[in-house]
Amino acid sequence: MTPQPDAPETPTGAAQRRGPFRPGDRVQLTDPRGRLHTITLAAGAAFHTHRGFFSHDDILGMPEGSVVTTTSGVEYLALRPLLSDYTLSMPRGAAVVYPKDAGQIVAMADIYPGARVVEAGVGSGALTLSLLRAVGDGGSVRSIERREDFADIARANVELLFGGPHPAWDLSVGDLSDVLPTVAEPGTVDRVVLDMLAPWENLEAVATALAPGGVLVCYVATTTQLSRLAEDLREDGRYTEPEAWETMVRGWHLEGLAVRPQHRMVGHTGFLLTARRMADGVQAPVRRRRPSKGAYPVDAEWSPEELGERPVSDKKVRRVRRDVTQALDGQGGQDAGHEVDAALQVDGPSTDTRADGPPVGDDM
Ligand SMILES: C[S@@+](CC[C@H](N)C(=O)[O-])C[C@H]1O[C@@H](n2cnc3c(N)ncnc32)[C@H](O)[C@@H]1O
Repeated sequence: MTPQPDAPETPTGAAQRRGPFRPGDRVQLTDPRGRLHTITLAAGAAFHTHRGFFSHDDILGMPEGSVVTTTSGVEYLALRPLLSDYTLSMPRGAAVVYPKDAGQIVAMADIYPGARVVEAGVGSGALTLSLLRAVGDGGSVRSIERREDFADIARANVELLFGGPHPAWDLSVGDLSDVLPTVAEPGTVDRVVLDMLAPWENLEAVATALAPGGVLVCYVATTTQLSRLAEDLREDGRYTEPEAWETMVRGWHLEGLAVRPQHRMVGHTGFLLTARRMADGVQAPVRRRRPSKGAYPVDAEWSPEELGERPVSDKKVRRVRRDVTQALDGQGGQDAGHEVDAALQVDGPSTDTRADGPPVGDDM
């Protein structure tokens, strides 16, 4: 493709991803069993395996997608890792945002070239890479991490991917609520991305920094975090109604006619939630909702009803009791305990905890 005549100079990191292999390139090697090894090319160095070795010089100067053979005849396919490969193989201190979620964050928070984005915590910097890719050299990603050791890991990961510091990136060490007011003027941030244990503790600082219409996207691991976050956002009043979702990605096995889902998958990573900043002084219109009974418990002890369990009426229990007693009288008292259990089951249990569905055993 010919670049547009007025296109800006090569964006940061793009040159490292093209052309023949050069010293300093990270290369992903795939062996005949599909196992991956990542090496950094250096003139004169060698890649050793228990089945021979090859010299890095054999790869240097070759195009991506070449095959290199060890002294014992084992072939390795050589490619530069994609961002998703790099993210999953890079050194990490904290758990990383998986590529499937990073993609969702970029798309659903509408992170665009030139956007001003704030991110916390940074952890190992996995999400930072996707954010920087999305905003480009003309945008800005201000990343805030409270742990200096994690910040150092993230900085190294970013610089390794982009081949040096990224012009759009600024990393601060400290707590988000302390640092954010010092790095962003009120109402100037387009997008805020929070990946931390207690994002609800920072809603005040985030609301101050976000521009009207700005997007907050949070990544949390558990339903309890999700619930707390949604309720605190509603209570704050400066955000639109939160929306939450998760994604599950299932790979497929492709072999002739044996085309089927893979047996293994990553079953859970996290939940995503977005909300947008209202204009100052404007209240979001109250959503008409009919919360299910028990959705908002008044005390800390969760009763069966609050967990969605259907109570059994006294009338029903009296009827079951009468029926089993009659059955017992007719049987002469044998196996009484067994009969009682069976009769209760036939008439429908009271222990279905699905809030939205009918009790198990009900006639449909
Ligand atoms: C799961 S990690 C983030 C992973 C990161 N998104 C990635 O993709 O590599 C969560 C991080 O948030 C940091 N953190 C938690 N609360 C924070 C806060 N209030 N301000 C700044 N950083 C915070 C933690 O130190 C931790 O490194």
